[in-house]
Amino acid sequence: SAASLGHNVIPIVNKLQDIFAQIGTNFNPIELPQVAVVGCQSSGKSSVLEALVGRDFLPRGSGICTRRPLVLQLVQIDATDEEYGEFLHVPGTRFYDFDEIRREIQAETDREAGGNKGLSDKQIRLKIFSPNVLDITLVDLPGITKVPVGDQPSDIESRIRTMIMSYIKLPTCLILAVTPANSDLANSDALQIAGNADPDGYRTIGVITKLDIMDRGTDARSFLLGKVIPLRLGYVGVVNRSQEDIMLNRTIKDALVAEEKFFRSQPVYNDLADRCGVPQLAKKLNQILVQHIKKVLPGLKSHISATLVSVAKEHASFGELTESKAGMGALLLNILSKYSEAFCSMIEGNNEEMSTS
Ligand code: GDP
Ligand code: NA
Ligand code: MG
Repeated sequence: SAASLGHNVIPIVNKLQDIFAQIGTNFNPIELPQVAVVGCQSSGKSSVLEALVGRDFLPRGSGICTRRPLVLQLVQIDATDEEYGEFLHVPGTRFYDFDEIRREIQAETDREAGGNKGLSDKQIRLKIFSPNVLDITLVDLPGITKVPVGDQPSDIESRIRTMIMSYIKLPTCLILAVTPANSDLANSDALQIAGNADPDGYRTIGVITKLDIMDRGTDARSFLLGKVIPLRLGYVGVVNRSQEDIMLNRTIKDALVAEEKFFRSQPVYNDLADRCGVPQLAKKLNQILVQHIKKVLPGLKSHISATLVSVAKEHASFGELTESKAGMGALLLNILSKYSEAFCSMIEGNNEEMSTS
Protein backbone atom coordinates (compact mmCIF):
# COMPACT_ATOMS: atom_id res chain seq x y z
CA SER A 1 0.00 0.00 0.00
CA ALA A 2 1.04 3.58 -0.52
CA ALA A 3 1.29 4.05 3.22
CA SER A 4 3.94 1.52 3.92
CA LEU A 5 7.55 2.07 4.66
CA GLY A 6 9.76 1.16 1.75
CA HIS A 7 7.13 1.45 -0.93
CA ASN A 8 9.51 3.25 -3.30
CA VAL A 9 12.78 1.93 -2.00
CA ILE A 10 12.13 -1.82 -2.08
CA PRO A 11 12.61 -2.26 -5.85
CA ILE A 12 15.92 -0.40 -5.75
CA VAL A 13 17.28 -2.32 -2.81
CA ASN A 14 16.18 -5.59 -4.39
CA LYS A 15 17.91 -4.71 -7.62
CA LEU A 16 21.15 -3.90 -5.85
CA GLN A 17 20.98 -7.10 -3.85
CA ASP A 18 20.42 -9.05 -7.06
CA ILE A 19 23.45 -7.43 -8.64
CA PHE A 20 25.63 -8.33 -5.69
CA ALA A 21 24.28 -11.86 -5.54
CA GLN A 22 25.22 -12.27 -9.21
CA ILE A 23 28.85 -11.40 -8.66
CA GLY A 24 28.82 -13.90 -5.84
CA THR A 25 29.91 -11.75 -2.94
CA ASN A 26 28.59 -12.03 0.60
CA PHE A 27 28.84 -8.28 0.95
CA ASN A 28 25.61 -6.65 2.12
CA PRO A 29 25.25 -3.83 -0.41
CA ILE A 30 23.11 -1.51 1.63
CA GLU A 31 23.00 -1.29 5.35
CA LEU A 32 19.94 0.81 5.87
CA PRO A 33 19.79 3.01 8.95
CA GLN A 34 17.84 1.91 12.01
CA VAL A 35 14.71 3.82 12.94
CA ALA A 36 13.95 4.32 16.65
CA VAL A 37 10.97 5.99 18.32
CA VAL A 38 11.40 8.21 21.35
CA GLY A 39 8.94 10.11 23.49
CA CYS A 40 6.92 10.09 26.66
CA GLN A 41 4.95 7.13 27.82
CA SER A 42 1.72 6.73 25.85
CA SER A 43 2.65 9.40 23.32
CA GLY A 44 1.82 6.89 20.57
CA LYS A 45 5.26 5.49 19.70
CA SER A 46 4.18 1.88 19.28
CA SER A 47 1.12 2.99 17.33
CA VAL A 48 3.30 4.95 14.89
CA LEU A 49 5.65 2.01 14.29
CA GLU A 50 2.75 -0.35 13.73
CA ALA A 51 1.15 2.00 11.25
CA LEU A 52 4.42 2.22 9.34
CA VAL A 53 4.77 -1.55 9.18
CA GLY A 54 1.09 -1.89 8.33
CA ARG A 55 0.48 -4.81 10.68
CA ASP A 56 -1.05 -5.13 14.14
CA PHE A 57 1.33 -6.84 16.50
CA LEU A 58 2.73 -4.46 19.09
CA PRO A 59 1.46 -4.10 22.65
CA ARG A 60 -0.20 -0.67 22.78
CA GLY A 61 -2.46 1.08 25.21
CA SER A 62 -2.75 3.62 27.97
CA GLY A 63 -0.14 3.17 30.67
CA ILE A 64 3.22 1.51 30.24
CA CYS A 65 3.10 -1.25 27.60
CA THR A 66 6.55 -1.20 26.05
CA ARG A 67 8.84 -2.21 28.92
CA ARG A 68 11.79 -3.66 27.04
CA PRO A 69 13.45 -2.45 23.85
CA LEU A 70 11.95 -4.32 20.91
CA VAL A 71 14.34 -4.64 18.01
CA LEU A 72 12.24 -5.38 14.99
CA GLN A 73 14.09 -6.59 11.93
CA LEU A 74 12.05 -6.57 8.77
CA VAL A 75 13.16 -9.13 6.24
CA GLN A 76 11.86 -9.31 2.73
CA ILE A 77 10.73 -12.66 1.31
CA ASP A 78 9.26 -13.78 -2.00
CA ALA A 79 5.93 -12.32 -2.98
CA THR A 80 4.36 -15.76 -2.94
CA ASP A 81 5.35 -16.52 0.66
CA GLU A 82 3.21 -15.91 3.70
CA GLU A 83 4.19 -13.31 6.30
CA TYR A 84 5.46 -14.57 9.62
CA GLY A 85 7.44 -13.54 12.67
CA GLU A 86 10.25 -15.26 14.51
CA PHE A 87 11.70 -14.39 17.91
CA LEU A 88 15.35 -14.80 18.79
CA HIS A 89 14.27 -16.34 22.10
CA VAL A 90 12.02 -18.92 20.38
CA PRO A 91 14.31 -20.12 17.60
CA GLY A 92 12.80 -22.15 14.80
CA THR A 93 9.19 -21.25 15.57
CA ARG A 94 7.29 -19.35 12.92
CA PHE A 95 4.46 -17.15 14.18
CA TYR A 96 1.93 -16.72 11.38
CA ASP A 97 -0.69 -15.24 13.70
CA PHE A 98 0.18 -11.62 14.50
CA ASP A 99 -2.04 -11.57 17.61
CA GLU A 100 0.09 -14.41 18.87
CA ILE A 101 3.19 -12.31 18.19
CA ARG A 102 1.77 -9.58 20.41
CA ARG A 103 0.99 -12.09 23.18
CA GLU A 104 4.52 -13.47 22.96
CA ILE A 105 6.01 -9.95 23.24
CA GLN A 106 3.90 -9.42 26.36
CA ALA A 107 4.81 -12.80 27.86
CA GLU A 108 8.50 -12.32 27.13
CA THR A 109 8.35 -8.81 28.62
CA ASP A 110 6.90 -10.30 31.82
CA ARG A 111 9.53 -13.07 31.92
CA GLU A 112 12.36 -10.57 32.05
CA ALA A 113 10.80 -7.46 33.60
CA GLY A 114 8.14 -9.04 35.82
CA GLY A 115 4.41 -8.52 35.67
CA ASN A 116 4.27 -5.31 37.71
CA LYS A 117 5.29 -2.46 35.39
CA GLY A 118 8.99 -3.19 35.74
CA LEU A 119 11.41 -2.41 32.91
CA SER A 120 14.46 -4.13 31.51
CA ASP A 121 17.02 -2.96 29.01
CA LYS A 122 17.41 -6.50 27.72
CA GLN A 123 16.18 -6.51 24.12
CA ILE A 124 13.42 -8.58 22.63
CA ARG A 125 14.47 -9.40 19.07
CA LEU A 126 11.79 -10.11 16.53
CA LYS A 127 12.12 -10.68 12.82
CA ILE A 128 9.15 -10.11 10.55
CA PHE A 129 9.43 -11.92 7.23
CA SER A 130 7.18 -10.34 4.65
CA PRO A 131 6.97 -9.68 0.92
CA ASN A 132 5.89 -6.10 1.66
CA VAL A 133 8.84 -4.78 3.62
CA LEU A 134 12.39 -3.75 3.00
CA ASP A 135 15.24 -4.93 5.14
CA ILE A 136 15.27 -2.34 7.83
CA THR A 137 15.43 -2.37 11.61
CA LEU A 138 12.88 -0.53 13.72
CA VAL A 139 13.32 -0.10 17.45
CA ASP A 140 10.36 0.34 19.78
CA LEU A 141 11.48 1.81 23.08
CA PRO A 142 9.89 2.35 26.49
CA GLY A 143 8.64 5.90 26.95
CA ILE A 144 10.05 8.55 29.24
CA THR A 145 8.22 8.50 32.55
CA LYS A 146 8.78 10.64 35.66
CA VAL A 147 6.95 9.05 38.53
CA PRO A 148 7.81 5.44 39.45
CA VAL A 149 4.86 3.02 39.64
CA GLY A 150 4.67 -0.70 40.49
CA ASP A 151 8.09 -2.33 40.61
CA GLN A 152 9.85 0.64 39.04
CA PRO A 153 12.90 1.97 40.87
CA SER A 154 13.00 5.56 42.14
CA ASP A 155 15.48 6.54 39.43
CA ILE A 156 13.24 5.24 36.65
CA GLU A 157 13.43 8.44 34.62
CA SER A 158 17.21 8.51 34.34
CA ARG A 159 17.33 4.78 33.64
CA ILE A 160 14.91 5.10 30.76
CA ARG A 161 16.75 8.14 29.40
CA THR A 162 20.03 6.21 29.47
CA MET A 163 18.39 3.27 27.70
CA ILE A 164 16.94 5.54 25.00
CA MET A 165 20.23 7.38 24.50
CA SER A 166 22.12 4.11 24.00
CA TYR A 167 20.07 3.62 20.82
CA ILE A 168 19.62 7.11 19.44
CA LYS A 169 23.17 8.32 19.97
CA LEU A 170 24.33 6.00 17.14
CA PRO A 171 25.03 8.23 14.16
CA THR A 172 23.22 5.77 11.87
CA CYS A 173 19.97 5.86 13.85
CA LEU A 174 17.03 7.81 12.48
CA ILE A 175 14.99 9.23 15.33
CA LEU A 176 11.23 9.59 15.28
CA ALA A 177 10.60 12.07 18.08
CA VAL A 178 6.98 11.48 19.04
CA THR A 179 5.04 14.20 20.85
CA PRO A 180 1.30 14.01 21.56
CA ALA A 181 -0.59 17.12 20.42
CA ASN A 182 -2.64 17.17 23.62
CA SER A 183 0.47 17.91 25.68
CA ASP A 184 2.62 21.02 25.97
CA LEU A 185 4.28 20.79 22.57
CA ALA A 186 6.89 23.44 23.27
CA ASN A 187 8.20 21.36 26.20
CA SER A 188 8.44 18.09 24.31
CA ASP A 189 10.67 15.57 26.11
CA ALA A 190 10.97 13.70 22.81
CA LEU A 191 12.44 16.68 20.98
CA GLN A 192 14.66 17.48 23.92
CA ILE A 193 16.22 14.00 24.15
CA ALA A 194 16.47 13.76 20.35
CA GLY A 195 18.24 17.12 20.40
CA ASN A 196 20.79 15.77 22.86
CA ALA A 197 21.54 12.81 20.61
CA ASP A 198 21.37 14.69 17.31
CA PRO A 199 22.13 18.35 18.02
CA ASP A 200 22.37 19.30 14.35
CA GLY A 201 19.04 17.65 13.56
CA TYR A 202 20.24 15.65 10.57
CA ARG A 203 18.43 12.49 11.62
CA THR A 204 15.43 13.57 13.67
CA ILE A 205 11.88 13.66 12.32
CA GLY A 206 9.23 15.25 14.53
CA VAL A 207 6.01 13.26 14.78
CA ILE A 208 2.96 14.89 16.36
CA THR A 209 0.34 12.32 17.38
CA LYS A 210 -3.20 12.67 18.77
CA LEU A 211 -4.16 15.65 16.63
CA ASP A 212 -7.72 14.38 17.00
CA ILE A 213 -7.86 15.00 20.73
CA MET A 214 -6.34 18.44 21.08
CA ASP A 215 -8.08 20.93 23.27
CA ARG A 216 -10.93 22.50 21.34
CA GLY A 217 -9.88 25.77 19.76
CA THR A 218 -6.22 24.80 19.57
CA ASP A 219 -4.29 23.25 16.71
CA ALA A 220 -0.76 22.15 15.90
CA ARG A 221 -0.38 24.24 12.76
CA SER A 222 2.50 26.46 13.77
CA PHE A 223 4.21 23.45 15.30
CA LEU A 224 3.93 21.40 12.12
CA LEU A 225 5.30 24.39 10.24
CA GLY A 226 8.36 24.33 12.47
CA LYS A 227 7.67 27.79 13.87
CA VAL A 228 7.83 26.71 17.50
CA ILE A 229 10.80 24.34 17.48
CA PRO A 230 12.49 24.32 14.06
CA LEU A 231 13.64 20.92 12.86
CA ARG A 232 15.78 20.39 9.79
CA LEU A 233 13.83 17.32 8.63
CA GLY A 234 10.49 18.79 9.67
CA TYR A 235 7.35 17.41 11.25
CA VAL A 236 4.50 15.09 10.35
CA GLY A 237 1.20 15.10 12.21
CA VAL A 238 -0.68 11.81 12.54
CA VAL A 239 -3.88 10.37 13.95
CA ASN A 240 -3.55 6.83 15.26
CA ARG A 241 -6.15 4.59 16.79
CA SER A 242 -7.58 5.66 20.14
CA GLN A 243 -7.86 3.40 23.16
CA GLU A 244 -11.49 2.83 22.21
CA ASP A 245 -10.41 1.78 18.70
CA ILE A 246 -8.01 -0.72 20.27
CA MET A 247 -10.79 -2.17 22.42
CA LEU A 248 -13.05 -2.40 19.38
CA ASN A 249 -10.28 -4.10 17.39
CA ARG A 250 -10.29 -1.46 14.65
CA THR A 251 -7.89 -2.44 11.90
CA ILE A 252 -4.94 -0.42 10.64
CA LYS A 253 -6.69 -0.08 7.31
CA ASP A 254 -9.74 1.48 8.95
CA ALA A 255 -7.47 3.72 10.96
CA LEU A 256 -5.79 5.04 7.81
CA VAL A 257 -9.15 5.79 6.25
CA ALA A 258 -10.27 7.58 9.43
CA GLU A 259 -7.03 9.54 9.52
CA GLU A 260 -7.45 10.74 5.97
CA LYS A 261 -11.03 11.75 6.71
CA PHE A 262 -9.91 13.65 9.79
CA PHE A 263 -7.39 15.74 7.89
CA ARG A 264 -9.86 16.42 5.10
CA SER A 265 -12.42 17.67 7.61
CA GLN A 266 -10.03 20.09 9.34
CA PRO A 267 -9.61 23.32 7.33
CA VAL A 268 -6.67 24.32 9.51
CA TYR A 269 -4.59 21.43 8.10
CA ASN A 270 -5.85 21.60 4.52
CA ASP A 271 -2.83 23.39 3.10
CA LEU A 272 -0.41 21.20 5.07
CA ALA A 273 -1.18 17.95 3.27
CA ASP A 274 2.52 17.11 2.92
CA ARG A 275 2.90 17.25 6.70
CA CYS A 276 -0.16 15.26 7.66
CA GLY A 277 -0.77 11.53 7.92
CA VAL A 278 1.05 8.23 8.27
CA PRO A 279 1.48 7.90 4.47
CA GLN A 280 3.37 11.22 4.50
CA LEU A 281 5.57 9.99 7.33
CA ALA A 282 6.33 6.84 5.35
CA LYS A 283 7.11 9.00 2.33
CA LYS A 284 9.47 11.19 4.33
CA LEU A 285 11.28 8.14 5.68
CA ASN A 286 11.51 6.65 2.21
CA GLN A 287 13.04 9.86 0.89
CA ILE A 288 15.64 9.75 3.64
CA LEU A 289 16.41 6.12 2.81
CA VAL A 290 16.80 6.99 -0.86
CA GLN A 291 19.23 9.78 0.04
CA HIS A 292 21.13 7.27 2.13
CA ILE A 293 21.29 4.80 -0.76
CA LYS A 294 22.42 7.57 -3.08
CA LYS A 295 25.23 8.36 -0.68
CA VAL A 296 26.49 4.77 -0.55
CA LEU A 297 26.28 4.14 -4.31
CA PRO A 298 29.78 5.34 -5.26
CA GLY A 299 31.23 3.04 -2.60
CA LEU A 300 29.20 0.15 -4.01
CA LYS A 301 30.54 0.79 -7.49
CA SER A 302 34.13 0.69 -6.33
CA HIS A 303 33.40 -2.41 -4.29
CA ILE A 304 32.09 -4.16 -7.41
CA SER A 305 35.12 -3.08 -9.41
CA ALA A 306 37.52 -4.25 -6.72
CA THR A 307 35.72 -7.58 -6.42
CA LEU A 308 35.91 -8.10 -10.16
CA VAL A 309 39.60 -7.29 -10.26
CA SER A 310 40.33 -9.80 -7.52
CA VAL A 311 38.16 -12.43 -9.20
CA ALA A 312 39.98 -11.85 -12.46
CA LYS A 313 43.36 -12.15 -10.76
CA GLU A 314 42.38 -15.34 -9.05
CA HIS A 315 41.26 -16.84 -12.33
CA ALA A 316 44.36 -15.62 -14.12
CA SER A 317 46.58 -17.28 -11.55
CA PHE A 318 44.88 -20.56 -12.35
CA GLY A 319 45.42 -19.84 -16.02
CA GLU A 320 41.69 -19.71 -16.74
CA LEU A 321 39.90 -17.58 -19.23
CA THR A 322 38.65 -14.37 -17.62
CA GLU A 323 36.66 -13.02 -20.54
CA SER A 324 33.23 -14.07 -19.38
CA LYS A 325 33.70 -12.84 -15.81
CA ALA A 326 35.01 -9.51 -16.99
CA GLY A 327 32.13 -9.20 -19.43
CA MET A 328 29.65 -9.89 -16.70
CA GLY A 329 31.31 -7.32 -14.46
CA ALA A 330 31.02 -4.64 -17.11
CA LEU A 331 27.39 -5.51 -17.53
CA LEU A 332 26.72 -5.25 -13.79
CA LEU A 333 28.48 -1.92 -13.54
CA ASN A 334 26.31 -0.75 -16.37
CA ILE A 335 23.16 -1.78 -14.57
CA LEU A 336 24.35 -0.05 -11.43
CA SER A 337 25.14 3.17 -13.28
CA LYS A 338 21.77 3.09 -14.92
CA TYR A 339 20.25 2.70 -11.50
CA SER A 340 22.14 5.63 -10.03
CA GLU A 341 20.57 7.82 -12.69
CA ALA A 342 17.18 6.38 -11.87
CA PHE A 343 17.78 7.16 -8.18
CA CYS A 344 18.50 10.77 -8.96
CA SER A 345 15.42 11.24 -11.08
CA MET A 346 13.37 9.51 -8.42
CA ILE A 347 14.69 11.86 -5.78
CA GLU A 348 13.73 14.73 -7.99
CA GLY A 349 10.27 13.20 -8.17
CA ASN A 350 10.24 12.39 -11.90
CA ASN A 351 10.05 8.67 -11.51
CA GLU A 352 8.21 7.60 -8.35
CA GLU A 353 7.47 4.07 -9.43
CA MET A 354 10.63 2.44 -10.66
CA SER A 355 10.48 -0.54 -12.90
CA THR A 356 11.99 -3.61 -11.32
CA SER A 357 12.52 -5.42 -14.56
P1 GDP B 1 3.44 4.46 23.50
O1 GDP B 1 3.34 4.20 24.97
O2 GDP B 1 4.12 5.77 23.23
O3 GDP B 1 4.01 3.34 22.73
O4 GDP B 1 1.94 4.74 23.00
P2 GDP B 1 0.89 3.68 22.43
O5 GDP B 1 1.09 3.50 20.97
O6 GDP B 1 0.88 2.47 23.29
O7 GDP B 1 -0.45 4.51 22.61
C1 GDP B 1 -0.84 4.96 23.86
C2 GDP B 1 -2.33 5.24 23.87
O8 GDP B 1 -2.60 6.39 23.07
C3 GDP B 1 -3.16 4.11 23.28
O9 GDP B 1 -4.35 4.02 24.02
C4 GDP B 1 -3.44 4.58 21.89
O10 GDP B 1 -4.67 4.07 21.40
C5 GDP B 1 -3.55 6.07 22.07
N1 GDP B 1 -3.17 6.81 20.88
C6 GDP B 1 -1.99 6.76 20.21
N2 GDP B 1 -2.00 7.62 19.18
C7 GDP B 1 -3.22 8.23 19.17
C8 GDP B 1 -3.84 9.24 18.33
O11 GDP B 1 -3.25 9.74 17.36
N3 GDP B 1 -5.10 9.61 18.67
C9 GDP B 1 -5.78 9.06 19.74
N4 GDP B 1 -7.02 9.48 19.97
N5 GDP B 1 -5.22 8.14 20.54
C10 GDP B 1 -3.96 7.72 20.27
NA1 NA C 1 1.49 3.10 26.23
MG1 MG D 1 4.93 1.65 23.37
